[in-house]
Amino acid sequence: MGERVSTGVEGLDAMVRGGLLPGRPYVFSGPTGSGKTILATHFLLEGLKLGEPCLMVTLDEPPSELKANMGLFGWNLDRLKILDATPDVRAHKRQRSVIDVGTALDVRDMEDVNGLRQSSQIRALEVTVHSVQKMIKQEFAQRLERTTERYKRIVIDSLTALKMFSMQGEDSRILIQSFLRFLSELEATSVIISERLDRSTIETEFFLSRGEIRLHKWLDGNVIRRAISVEKFRGSSFDDKIRPVTIGNAGLVVFSNAQASFRGGPSALRVGESFLESRIIEEVSNLLDAVLRQVDEAHRRQINVKDIEVAVSRAMVHFQRRHYQKALKHALACDSQLKQLLGEAPPPPPPSAPPKPPGVRA
Ligand SMILES: Nc1ncnc2c1ncn2[C@@H]1O[C@H](COP(=O)(O)OP(=O)(O)OP(=O)(O)O)[C@@H](O)[C@H]1O
Ligand SMILES: [Mg+2]
Repeated sequence: MGERVSTGVEGLDAMVRGGLLPGRPYVFSGPTGSGKTILATHFLLEGLKLGEPCLMVTLDEPPSELKANMGLFGWNLDRLKILDATPDVRAHKRQRSVIDVGTALDVRDMEDVNGLRQSSQIRALEVTVHSVQKMIKQEFAQRLERTTERYKRIVIDSLTALKMFSMQGEDSRILIQSFLRFLSELEATSVIISERLDRSTIETEFFLSRGEIRLHKWLDGNVIRRAISVEKFRGSSFDDKIRPVTIGNAGLVVFSNAQASFRGGPSALRVGESFLESRIIEEVSNLLDAVLRQVDEAHRRQINVKDIEVAVSRAMVHFQRRHYQKALKHALACDSQLKQLLGEAPPPPPPSAPPKPPGVRA
């Protein structure tokens, strides 16, 4: 078995046969209060324990709040780099409507130094996928100026918040797609926290990620029950059963050998899709994944595939609306067109040599 990235939770590592696959994007999903942030913090703390540089981008709660909440478990996040992308709603709420809030907010990189929030150079940008991406890119570059060690683990908490701030309509798919591609290229193992807001659609990040770990929470009488399941895990086998979870003083604990009992909530708790549905989801999402890789390749070779990209986007719309047959049909058409184009096009040019500095002779 290849190298694995521990999630920091023993029972969950057992469910995914040792850990996540390095350098890939994953989704932690679940309803509010289900433990997503706690689980993601376990993942980051594990990295810090191993001496890995770790980065958290927070959109849901300011760093000071995050640190205070996680402090309750006795965890010290001082060595964690936190980028604050929480919009300063207070500063805007008097003058602006809800719609404006997405377009004119401050994105600030604020290190919590002695409890003081210090804003950085990228003030007054919008909270958009683009600005968050830029923020991460800048942080990576700055880190590489100081040290040769790259960030190994990144958490985005949460994509749901980012979507609410910045995205509306069809464009969001393309944005999320490029955001996930951006994360993959960072070569860090990344975790995107996301809530399934609408049960009738499948959000882009769920099928573009390499895996989804879902947290469940339901009421059994007056007791809150928790569980966890691995909904998808590419490139490896995994435990496909739902396992009980508790949150206590030591954080989140997964009982990987126990069965979760659904008293009180079985009907509300739909774990994944039916077997047949999950097979076709797997098939279409693998195909879309392959198609997107070919689109990337076409970009690299500077082949114009605009029309095909529109068709891919259409396939994704069908997929999200659970029209799998239509999605499959469109994706297959894109796949064969791309194969033909890439086959016909000249081979990729060799990587160009960097320009020589002036005054240096060959
Ligand atoms: N010390 C503790 N003991 C037991 N439960 C705790 C403790 N601290 C927090 N919790 C529980 O953990 C849950 C919060 O977890 P977390 O913040 O990770 O949720 P989340 O999924 O990120 O939610 P959201 O979507 O609202 O951000 C709450 O339901 C809270 O009851
Ligand atoms: Mg949270």
